[in-house]
Amino acid sequence: MIHSPEPNTPEPDSGKQTARHCLAIADWQPATVRAVLEQARSFLEVVGRPVKKIPLLRGKTMMNLFFEPSTRTRVTFELAAKRLSADVISLSAQETSAQKGESLLDTLHNLEAMGIDVIIVRHRLSGAAAFLAQHAGPNISIVNAGDGSHAHPTQALLDCFTIMQHKRQVAGLVVAIVGDIRHSRVARSLMRALDMLEVAELRLCAPKTLMPTELGAYRAHPMHDLAEAVSGCDVVIALRLQKERMTQALLPSEQEYFRYYGLTRAHLALARPDAIVMHPGPINRGVEIAGDLADDPQAVILQQVTNGIAVRMAVLAMCVAAQKKVPSG
Ligand code: CP
Repeated sequence: MIHSPEPNTPEPDSGKQTARHCLAIADWQPATVRAVLEQARSFLEVVGRPVKKIPLLRGKTMMNLFFEPSTRTRVTFELAAKRLSADVISLSAQETSAQKGESLLDTLHNLEAMGIDVIIVRHRLSGAAAFLAQHAGPNISIVNAGDGSHAHPTQALLDCFTIMQHKRQVAGLVVAIVGDIRHSRVARSLMRALDMLEVAELRLCAPKTLMPTELGAYRAHPMHDLAEAVSGCDVVIALRLQKERMTQALLPSEQEYFRYYGLTRAHLALARPDAIVMHPGPINRGVEIAGDLADDPQAVILQQVTNGIAVRMAVLAMCVAAQKKVPSG
């Protein structure tokens, strides 16, 4: 079975700033998170240039291996690799020999035999990326683009980057995460990252059926009343209902859900006047967020997408730099 639970308590900060793999925020030191966010700032300048390309990863090959659908993560990883002058190959599950019974491990060994430098993997099974990393040789990095409900580290990094763009730092902020937290790999990674960056208060707002079962693992306040949860917040983050990971009926209806947990402009009015509204996407208008709030100037949802390119460039650059190259063959 592929499974790798997040450790409840991150290792003490050793000051180590680099990592070969990007599997879960909890595996990293706060110094690594901060180093990636700092590097992403300079890459954001690159992606804003008329010629959006630097030669940092020229001669390297990235493989996007997506066993689940994606728009933002897959495209921004592909763009990030291209901006760094790497060669990129993208495959979805339907295009791989997994369809013909090949195991994930055999797929890994075949890609290694082709000299791939980085595999960016999205998989429905929690622990799939860690499983690949455990079996990978020294010349390859594994980047987790989302595994089950476990982790989505680069989404958490780009969310923190976006918060820091608007609020300068995470320390001292009051942040609310609203929606289907139980099934959310984004929330699990983001809670770890916000904690490392010393968020002042983290509120989790969801019906009981959508709260994480391992609530005690996080430094966060569970709440059930949305108006109370967003009051005085600096940042409000909405999450969609992840129906693909629900194994039983957890809600009466989407209409009823929107009535109690759908974010609206009326909720934003309860937050701080300069509050920002975020969403990792894809958004479901009229379910977890009202359409006019998603389009509000205080909603930074599309900025999150843009920042994803710079942050993923920083992750790819760091992982490749941390590889210990051993001659192959
Ligand atoms: N936020 C996110 O992971 O979006 P995609 O599923 O489109 O990649």
